[in-house]
Amino acid sequence: MIPPRDMNKILAFGSKQAKKRAARRGQAGELGRLPPEANITLAAEREATGVDEILAALEQDLIGLQPIKQKVSEIASLLLVDRARRRFGLEAPRPNLHMCFTGSPGTGKTTVALRMANLLHRLGYLETGQLVHAMRNDLIGEYIGQTAPRTKKILDQAMGGVLFIDEAYYLYNEKDPNDYGQEAVGILLQVMENDRDRLVVVLAGYKDRMDVFFTSNPGMASRIAHHLDFADYELGELLSIGEVMLKQAHYYLSPEAEDMLGKQLTRQMGDPLFSNARSVRNDLDRARLRHAFRLSAEPDRLWSRDDLMRLEPFDLMSDERL
Ligand SMILES: Nc1ncnc2c1ncn2[C@@H]1O[C@H](COP(=O)(O)OP(=O)(O)OP(=O)(O)O)[C@@H](O)[C@H]1O
Ligand SMILES: [Mg+2]
Repeated sequence: MIPPRDMNKILAFGSKQAKKRAARRGQAGELGRLPPEANITLAAEREATGVDEILAALEQDLIGLQPIKQKVSEIASLLLVDRARRRFGLEAPRPNLHMCFTGSPGTGKTTVALRMANLLHRLGYLETGQLVHAMRNDLIGEYIGQTAPRTKKILDQAMGGVLFIDEAYYLYNEKDPNDYGQEAVGILLQVMENDRDRLVVVLAGYKDRMDVFFTSNPGMASRIAHHLDFADYELGELLSIGEVMLKQAHYYLSPEAEDMLGKQLTRQMGDPLFSNARSVRNDLDRARLRHAFRLSAEPDRLWSRDDLMRLEPFDLMSDERL
């Protein structure tokens, strides 16, 4: 149970901020109020918010993830229209944007959450747009009286931005009725409802465990507006992801090395520890190590700029797992 005093403090904190925000919104404001007969293009709104840059960067830097990109751009449209409506004084309650990201390790959940935080900030939905990453131990104490302050501290840090709760199902332990997880979930539920225009909560984890978590926590399920499922990458996508990573680091694979990476990934994809794009990053990090080792083994040989950039099959022949 949360001592009523703590809960009141948490709620009072929220309402104080809400008043400040309402006062700010009430001011003549950066948006500039338009007369009812005016017209507006959304292109101008897009330009003013810089939203297209974020969507273009998402498209360019992240391979695949089409359904995710689609959803992000739908949310962006909703907020753009919301912004345009506000210029005519058409106030509406902020839409609920709490989300759940499910998928295997390394499928891009954290990366997309970071971009989402930035997008929501640009569109004026979130005031500060930081992303605070939390797991069970950041929110839940081991002894009585520790959980409420711990959860509140994280919520304070995340206010104005995104609270990203990784492996959210560990918050709740059905087998242990004395578990303090219930208390943390209770506080989260309150804040997700009362402060939903100041904080976006993203719950992340494996889909099957998340489904079980929602079944035992219908209150949480009903507060999540968007479910995004991150599929495992296919071989072609993993290779393209590798290419993007190498390009950013000014390396590239020779055609033979590319073949080798394809074979290596095909082997790894069957391993239960395979972590999608993160495994690609690890493979390439190891390849850079071996490349450096190969070049430095011949200290007197002349190496060109191209040699310093090009990875060869030898560099990929590492036996380590993932
Ligand atoms: N579609 C993609 N295109 C390019 N790079 C990607 C893509 N998806 C993931 N990555 C890269 O792979 C790495 C792992 O991604 P990220 O940390 O977002 O995965 P995650 O789903 O949060 O994993 P976990 O569940 O283990 O926390 C990051 O370095 C990220 O930049
Ligand atoms: Mg992650």
